[in-house]
Amino acid sequence: MVLFSLSTNKKLAGKVAKKLGVHLGALSINHFKDGETLVRIEEDIANKDVYVIQSITQPVNDSLMELLIFINACKNASAKSINVISPYIGYARQDRVAKAGEPITSQLVANMISSSGASSFHTFDIHTDASIKFYSIPSVNHLTSELFANYYLDLLKQYHIDTKDVVVVSPDHGSYNRAKELSKYLPGSSFAIISKYRPRPNEAKSLRIDGDADNKHAIIIDDIIDTAGTIKGAIKLLKEKNAKSIFVGATHGVFSNGAEELKQLCNDLVVTDSIEQNNEVLNTISLENEIVKIINK
Ligand code: R5P
Repeated sequence: MVLFSLSTNKKLAGKVAKKLGVHLGALSINHFKDGETLVRIEEDIANKDVYVIQSITQPVNDSLMELLIFINACKNASAKSINVISPYIGYARQDRVAKAGEPITSQLVANMISSSGASSFHTFDIHTDASIKFYSIPSVNHLTSELFANYYLDLLKQYHIDTKDVVVVSPDHGSYNRAKELSKYLPGSSFAIISKYRPRPNEAKSLRIDGDADNKHAIIIDDIIDTAGTIKGAIKLLKEKNAKSIFVGATHGVFSNGAEELKQLCNDLVVTDSIEQNNEVLNTISLENEIVKIINK
């Protein structure tokens, strides 16, 4: 097999290659003056199983095209199979028609990847579980609940906090399953859910919190932090409930507005390395072992 990294997850792909004891496949990525991308594979991959790690993240359209062009190059170079690992798959939030006239871009992206020649597709905590079905090739949505549970069990121990004094909070209805799953790993913890709506894109209004959240140590868990409006709304409501401390975790740190302000508002902020962070001081849970398992399977 040959493992490749495109532009968006170089650090994570490097770690995975090291764990597997392989080198990263040789390729070059160039751009024409008009913005077109050219990906050239620079080693023999004929009859080999190819794995490629590429999140579809900022710049979202370029990283998607880069992946599709790479797959096409692999087909032309007679790869035996082309297995895509996108730790974060952009456009996944556009998975339903919320208002008449809207597209289902998550499905469009799935169609593009499925029909490009890819043999399989893997991602982590896709926005809505059901949208993995948009892919017409073998595809798996890997869950990170256990990774987050291990992180929080360690953290709570460090802070000398009993799990019975913890509330796991879903910051909206979309993260209900994710938060419920995490709470199962924290014995005796309680659960709360926030009602949120979006008056317009990039704006979140958190209305009320339901559940046993008074005077607790709160863990807010979400799939994506983008503008951080959702999490800030949740923090505000939890402060009104006299939260003793507030820990924030999300699988994908998009951080369109940076992470600094949010870090100041809570006691701990952690994301996975599904999206490469420039902010070295941000706590991260690495997906490297999970990706090694996918490749070794
Ligand atoms: C929304 O449905 C997602 O699960 C996240 O809550 C959302 O994408 C976060 O976005 P923002 O950080 O911009 O509020």
